[in-house]
Amino acid sequence: GADTQLLRQRIKALLKERDAALVAHYYTDPELQSLAEETGGCVSDSLEMARFGSLHAASTLVVCGVKFMGETAKILNPEKTVLMPTLEATCSLDIGCPDDEFTAFCDAHPDRTVVVYANTSAAVKARADWVVTSSCAQEIVSYLDSRGEKILWAPDRHLGQYIQSATGADMLLWDGSCIVHEEFKAQALDDLKALYPDAAVLVHPESPAAVVELADVVGSTSRLIQAATELPNQRFIVATDSGIFYKMKQSAPNKIFIEAPTAGRGATCRSCAQCPWMGMNGLENLLAVLERGHQEIEVDPGVRKRALVPLGRMLDFTR
Ligand code: 13P
Ligand code: SF4
Repeated sequence: GADTQLLRQRIKALLKERDAALVAHYYTDPELQSLAEETGGCVSDSLEMARFGSLHAASTLVVCGVKFMGETAKILNPEKTVLMPTLEATCSLDIGCPDDEFTAFCDAHPDRTVVVYANTSAAVKARADWVVTSSCAQEIVSYLDSRGEKILWAPDRHLGQYIQSATGADMLLWDGSCIVHEEFKAQALDDLKALYPDAAVLVHPESPAAVVELADVVGSTSRLIQAATELPNQRFIVATDSGIFYKMKQSAPNKIFIEAPTAGRGATCRSCAQCPWMGMNGLENLLAVLERGHQEIEVDPGVRKRALVPLGRMLDFTR
């Protein structure tokens, strides 16, 4: 309505005034994704979000997503101010991998190359040899495997399992998971497939193995959006955060997208197909940070220097 339009106009003006660029993940509110598009910012998966900051001249980056995305932006662009609508937006993978326990785990397995998913704290990245996202994890693990390296993988065990079975690499897995994707259910998905035999099934690899097995395409958010436009199917069943439907519908307006079934829709499942932390980003708190310049991401300089090494390896590998 009118309020939303006013908020959007005010945000656009402040972005200019502050020399700020907006970076939004595909899981955030469509209002934020469209604002990022309209203002020459970035809407993308976590790998492209990481890349964007250094490509843009803005002196401030406003990252709409979860904390690890803001930290990654700061690690890669220490000279820029990095703001987030809220610093409370975390991730169950990050929470489930505290840096002291992780360091002890690595110390206990010194013969292994440490590969961590981007969904981790700066301190965990600082202990890693490689950082990966879901769009490059398989290629990087294959490469390390071809060099005979044994891998210590953290924190998402579903993604780890998927890559292990795809590559045959020797991987020791940390026991973490995403509270959104682990709720997708294979039996109900199979039933839905039977109802729509023409549909292609698109699955994010943070989902359980039984769900991944039913997929026609497994991949990062951007890979799934690409599949929705490139496959000839008219109908898709999608197992990932429902925020992705904004970009999917925009990229393939004539196609039909159906949410994959989750455990207890509604009453019992607060996080079903909707990440509660991604959902903390909205127009109001975005406007507030642009007005006040608070909610700034800081990374300890020593941690930053060490975390830059494995992040830099990922960006060089995927260039
Ligand atoms: P990608 O956008 O890299 O696929 O990551 C998904 C994710 O869980 C971010 O929270
Ligand atoms: Fe973390 Fe899952 Fe939310 Fe992504 S969707 S930020 S992996 S909890």
